[in-house]
Amino acid sequence: MQRQKVIIDCDPGIDDMLALMLAVQAPELEVVGITVVCGNVPVELGVENTFRCLERCHRLDIPVYQGATTPLTREFISAQDTHGMDGLGETYFPRTSEKTIEVQDAATYLATTFAQPTAISVIALGPLTNIAQALQKNPQLGEHMQRFVSMGGTYKSHGNCSPVAEYNYWCDPDAAAYVFQHLNQTIEMVGLDVTREIVLTPTLIEYCRRMNPEIGQFIQAITRFYVDFHWQQEHILGCVINDPLAVAYFIDPTICTGFESFTAVETTSISMGQTLVDRYDFWQKPANSKILTEVDTYSFFGKFLTVILHAQEELIQTDLKNLM
Ligand code: RIB
Ligand code: CA
Repeated sequence: MQRQKVIIDCDPGIDDMLALMLAVQAPELEVVGITVVCGNVPVELGVENTFRCLERCHRLDIPVYQGATTPLTREFISAQDTHGMDGLGETYFPRTSEKTIEVQDAATYLATTFAQPTAISVIALGPLTNIAQALQKNPQLGEHMQRFVSMGGTYKSHGNCSPVAEYNYWCDPDAAAYVFQHLNQTIEMVGLDVTREIVLTPTLIEYCRRMNPEIGQFIQAITRFYVDFHWQQEHILGCVINDPLAVAYFIDPTICTGFESFTAVETTSISMGQTLVDRYDFWQKPANSKILTEVDTYSFFGKFLTVILHAQEELIQTDLKNLM
């Protein structure tokens, strides 16, 4: 099987960490680079957490590029209230390697990588600041990539940063608006409509511990803070793991279904960061996005748990019948 080449842009972050664990170990993917953006945590911390992930997954071969320290124009507001001050649920795991960032910054790396048509895709798991800056450097960025998947936005589900806005697009609405306006590539938007269905429950966390004690204990440790946040905020028992769904959907697009639409992002006023999905074509503009609205949660967890727990797929699928 030919591995699909992909760059992951992320802001690790607890769910980014789980998404990276999936991406760098999935047999279908070749992660050719990781770019880090300010978001859940300041970008320097996101870089450190990326190194922590690559150390744990024995993938220190993957180059890491540091990106934007602030949004394009807005003041930077992190999500450390949700992910902990260290971005990993205040576990403060030590680093074990001497790995350092690449010399190129993230936007330059992205802009030069897509200077010509490539078979490389991009999965964006954080605010779109790096992507917007790369697009400003190289207007053909989108046309020269294979696919662009973004965890962000929401169609009908309520926001998680305001009544209408999702964090990645709320943190840097100008970047999101710019990318939706100028990328010239279908933005496969894995938004809260589908990610809210992906709840890592206490039962599934305990299952991870039983199936692979070392990895399961790590997952339990980094998600505890996130589970507490979800209970306090929305009385959800477990935690919504948004980013791994974007990776799993990239690997297997049948996991989610949706529709093509023109979408714009609000950049001002109290609805800043809102994705305005013109499903009924009021504005008569060509579709620039695919909005995912339905998800097969069973298929997602089958793929996700098989890869990150290094387990037999058939066993996971059998067990999930009793766990979900
Ligand atoms: O709104 C959820 C998104 O914002 C996720 O990508 C999470 O990691 C944060 O970046
Ligand atoms: Ca993220």
